[in-house]
Amino acid sequence: MALTTLIFDAYGTLFDVAGAARMAAAEVPALSHIWPRLAADWRAKQLEYTWLRAIMGDHRDFAQVTADALDWAMAAQGVEPALRARLLALYDDLPAYAEVLGMLAALPGARKVILSNGTPAMLARACASAGIAAHFAALLSVEEVGIYKPATVVYDLVEARLGVARDAVMFVSSNGWDAAGAARYGFRTVWVNRGGLPMDRLSHAPAHIIPDLTHLPALWHAA
Ligand code: LAC
Repeated sequence: MALTTLIFDAYGTLFDVAGAARMAAAEVPALSHIWPRLAADWRAKQLEYTWLRAIMGDHRDFAQVTADALDWAMAAQGVEPALRARLLALYDDLPAYAEVLGMLAALPGARKVILSNGTPAMLARACASAGIAAHFAALLSVEEVGIYKPATVVYDLVEARLGVARDAVMFVSSNGWDAAGAARYGFRTVWVNRGGLPMDRLSHAPAHIIPDLTHLPALWHAA
């Protein structure tokens, strides 16, 4: 079947999740050495909490999970509690990766949609702040099903909300585990391997691997 729809993961794929800690470090000298570790712990705990909450059947939305993960990361690095509000505010307005706007503009004919763990409010705010909202036909959030990726019911939202069969979808994620879940589901999956990481040892591999999103338009047009 011909591909009609490009589905994007949001955090880590379009939005630079290290941006909040990096921007805070530019304002607060005490963070200048520890911000990379703070950002890495924050992201790792955020994802871990999504998986644990999914397994436990104890859902909290991504705003709550993101704040909980920040609390853990700040405690681990001994960060002054007064910085919490600023870090969370910066997370609301994460920068898009440098190539995102050009990539979206190079895909005028494709229906482009976000499918993310983020809440509808988080996604709308991040897209508006990064100046990319107009490119997306829809912003789909796991909040509709109350469980996180890579649960199958999350990927089901594409057909349920857009009426698009899975074999008409190209799915794009920088998260190896999300790419594995989407490939297992039956989407034509692109893993954006920004970090040059080894492939996750899961049972389904992505169809394509690219180092950043500048390579996506050529892939889409060739598909
Ligand atoms: C998302 C997470 C995986 O945007 O970053 O769904």
